[in-house]
Amino acid sequence: MSQDNNIQLDKDIFAALIDKHEVQRDLCDKLEKETDNDKRNTIYQELKLELQAHAAAEERHLYIPVMQHDDGLDLSRHAITEHHEMDEMMETLGDGRISQETWDNTCADLIHKVRHHLKEEENEFFKQARKILDDDLQQRLGALYQVEHDEFMQKHEAE
Ligand SMILES: [Fe+2]
Ligand SMILES: [Fe+2]
Repeated sequence: MSQDNNIQLDKDIFAALIDKHEVQRDLCDKLEKETDNDKRNTIYQELKLELQAHAAAEERHLYIPVMQHDDGLDLSRHAITEHHEMDEMMETLGDGRISQETWDNTCADLIHKVRHHLKEEENEFFKQARKILDDDLQQRLGALYQVEHDEFMQKHEAE
């Protein structure tokens, strides 16, 4: 399967990111509704992979370019800090020694955090970033983001 088939060149970085935000939102909704623990774990693993693929590629192809500009420093720092907070929650969820109750509470916290983060990015950070990056760059970064996200998913789904 050629990964180039998945790359849509008409998508700028923001459209490409928001596409994946929708995937995250769907997985959070499914995870929240599911009551069977095994099924919850399967959905969680999907969400985890998606969050990891997204954060790495989003930092590289949005926040690092935005950070080159004075106006972009604060928003990039804020977003990357939230990525770390989500990583820490996923680390707790991967710790086999925690109780089911701790797992459930941490999972609920993660879902809450993801939803908050996506909303903040779409309503604030992306709006500011659009003013910082020129149109050509927004377009090129969209392709680069999609390639990196796809590569991450292919590499890890095969494991
Ligand atoms: Fe993010
Ligand atoms: Fe994002």
